[in-house]
Amino acid sequence: MVGDARAISALLSDAVGQAALVLTSPPYGAATHGHVRSSRDSGQPGVRKWNHLYSRDRANLAHQGLPGLLEGFGRILSGCVRLLRPGGVVAVTVRPYRERGELIDLPGQVQQAAGQVGLVLTDRIVCLLCGLGQDRLVNRASFFQLHEARKGWARGLPIHATAHEDLLIFRKAPAGPIQAAPEQNP
Ligand SMILES: C[S@@+](CC[C@H](N)C(=O)[O-])C[C@H]1O[C@@H](n2cnc3c(N)ncnc32)[C@H](O)[C@@H]1O
Repeated sequence: MVGDARAISALLSDAVGQAALVLTSPPYGAATHGHVRSSRDSGQPGVRKWNHLYSRDRANLAHQGLPGLLEGFGRILSGCVRLLRPGGVVAVTVRPYRERGELIDLPGQVQQAAGQVGLVLTDRIVCLLCGLGQDRLVNRASFFQLHEARKGWARGLPIHATAHEDLLIFRKAPAGPIQAAPEQNP
């Protein structure tokens, strides 16, 4: 099934109330890791990039600014809640990213959006994105992240390249006490 996940519970109506686990991950910005060859690799001046942008599909949240991304991802999470069976889990992989040098706490923002659709955070697992060397971890930060970090250091800003994803685990919040409807005035 391929479709706009903002309508996931309508697209997967047979799965409503059935899912033990929904695993998802929001895009952050129009760029993907893609493929990169720097002048050091190619011997040519400049950086060559390919497969580094998402499709131009307007439904793709990769082309939204942060407010649109959070609004759209909130709708996706709301649909995910409808898919969950009792005790089911929504798992989100997400990491902070930089926009014009500023660190954006996307995991924190996703946690807030999840709270607004009745999900509570039950676990946060830090997943290192790295290789295993003989006696140490080998950083696998993307070319673009390292490039941003190097530019920052050159300007005197001690920027670090993010080397992890957060795995956020959510469950449905227990139903609160039923609110009595306000009395009608005669
Ligand atoms: C961070 S990536 C996650 C990739 C996924 N974990 C995988 O291994 O393929 C975010 C994905 O969300 C997709 N996406 C963005 N907007 C979407 C939408 N409205 N409906 C469904 N998928 C969407 C993007 O195209 C991208 O593939």
